[in-house]
Amino acid sequence: MRQAVTSEVPALATAAEYFFKVGAEGKRMRPTVLLLMASALTDLSSGGADALSRARAASVPDDTRRRQQRLAEITELIHVASLLHDDVLDSAATRRGLRALNLEVGNKLAILAGDFLLARASVTLASLRNTEVIELLSRVLEHLVTGEVMQMTAKPERLMSFDHYFQKTYFKTASLIANSAKAIVLLGGHDTETASHAYDYGRHLGLAFQFQDDVLDFVGSGSVLGKPTLGDLKEGIATAPVLFAAEEHPQLSALIERRFKHVGDVELAHDLVKRSDGIERTKELAREHSALAVKAVEALPSIDCPHALRCRKGLKELAHMAVNRIK
Ligand code: FPP
Ligand code: MG
Ligand code: MG
Repeated sequence: MRQAVTSEVPALATAAEYFFKVGAEGKRMRPTVLLLMASALTDLSSGGADALSRARAASVPDDTRRRQQRLAEITELIHVASLLHDDVLDSAATRRGLRALNLEVGNKLAILAGDFLLARASVTLASLRNTEVIELLSRVLEHLVTGEVMQMTAKPERLMSFDHYFQKTYFKTASLIANSAKAIVLLGGHDTETASHAYDYGRHLGLAFQFQDDVLDFVGSGSVLGKPTLGDLKEGIATAPVLFAAEEHPQLSALIERRFKHVGDVELAHDLVKRSDGIERTKELAREHSALAVKAVEALPSIDCPHALRCRKGLKELAHMAVNRIK
């Protein structure tokens, strides 16, 4: 991946490499999920290979595995590009425990570095020579932008709607991992039904992950998360904890509709959320989607390969981690 983000123009190289440096790579949740999904469907025990050659098969990528690895790299490139743009839009000061790139190099170069990562992702995507996969990942880009613009421009009455919140959450967070999971399975030569289970896993995992993110924005620690808390309220965004809290405290509606813009709104909304079941109900929502992600793994076609089964266990563990994490 570090090779994929080099440039001969020094300023571009520095900016593009920023979140790929040692210690700045984040959780690498998406590539981990995708490679586990690829391996969860790969039968290494076929052909009667002994333990040693099976281990070699796992570490020496064949052409299919190499293409799947590229897809995982593309997904991470798109993710980091979207974070670079997001931090400009949000005027963020920190990301992954570092100064946000926009603070380091300014908004203009940060945006261009994001464009550059997208360009590198596009070149790699084209090299896969698979139009369905290209279409899936291109659709994800459309979703990321649509979700962001929905969040930015929603009319006041839409801000109160769970439908709007769910759709935006799918576009901004779940679409990337859902469609990439589908794509990596298609690259593995598996059928569309298997690909659709992978999509379901990614969608539910992404939703669970985001709901937990929305919880952590209220109850997490800024230093553990590597980014400030109460960021959503400060940005004028009502997430699930606030929407649930508004059912108990109707006075929240006015604050949501004016995007917490008046002096004291953020503090009052925070206080009302704390004095409601909003956090607990959002956690419950996250747990429901985590359980659906586990079900999607269980729906994958049966396989008699210990390595694939271990990877399935890993996918299920990640679904649990998504909702039990503190960072
Ligand atoms: C983080 O959200 C942001 C995203 C998940 C996607 C943002 C999408 C764009 C900026 C559109 C441009 C897309 C591309 C592909 C360049 P957040 O601000 O809620 O979360 P945070 O707390 O991590 O900042
Ligand atoms: Mg942000
Ligand atoms: Mg944002």
